Amino acid sequence: MIAIIVATSLNGAIGYLNEIPWYLPRDLKRFKEKTVGHTTLMGRKTHESIIKRLGHPLPDRRSIVLTRQKNFKAPDCEVASSWEEALEATKGDNLFVIGGAEIYSLALPHADKIFHTLVHTVTLGDAYFTFDPSAWQLVNSERVEADEKNEFACTFNDYERK
Ligand SMILES: NC(=O)c1ccc[n+]([C@@H]2O[C@H](COP(=O)([O-])OP(=O)(O)OC[C@H]3O[C@@H](n4cnc5c(N)ncnc54)[C@H](OP(=O)(O)O)[C@@H]3O)[C@@H](O)[C@H]2O)c1
Repeated sequence: MIAIIVATSLNGAIGYLNEIPWYLPRDLKRFKEKTVGHTTLMGRKTHESIIKRLGHPLPDRRSIVLTRQKNFKAPDCEVASSWEEALEATKGDNLFVIGGAEIYSLALPHADKIFHTLVHTVTLGDAYFTFDPSAWQLVNSERVEADEKNEFACTFNDYERK
């Protein structure tokens, strides 16, 4: 199973200056629940933004970093130099593609599921994710309102490929 897990604003932004443009602990919790114990695949830039934020890779998950750089070092992660190499290394795993924009584009034609958090705000971005909803069946949808800890309302939409 290959799943894309992504949060976008209403205008499709996922990131700005290599950071996620909102802070939604509720979405981080959902991300953790979905991915812990599984394999995550990310681009080198997303890997670097995780290390900047946490100081280490995502705990309790196998982390694979995609880069074209030879001899790229990512402690406690595995490194792959192509989409095909990453797929080969993760055969049989539940693979969660966790970004960013370049890696979502690579994964979209192969994905079985999309776990999409729609963040109810319009924001400036320099990285975007869009997909054609007509190719996907919405199997679950839950809207949650903003509160004192979560600055925006969001809708968790789970899609499966039709
Ligand atoms: N909202 C969300 O759900 C979410 C989730 C994750 C990330 N983000 C955001 O997304 C942004 C980053 O996205 P991005 O598109 O700029 O970067 P990215 O996808 O994280 O990483 C891009 C890098 O991946 C490597 N790469 C890409 N295609 C490759 C291929 N075919 N083979 C081997 N390596 C390949 C290259 O690394 P090298 O240059 O080292 O070769 C490339 O520079 C950030 O703002 C981040 O915060 C948002």
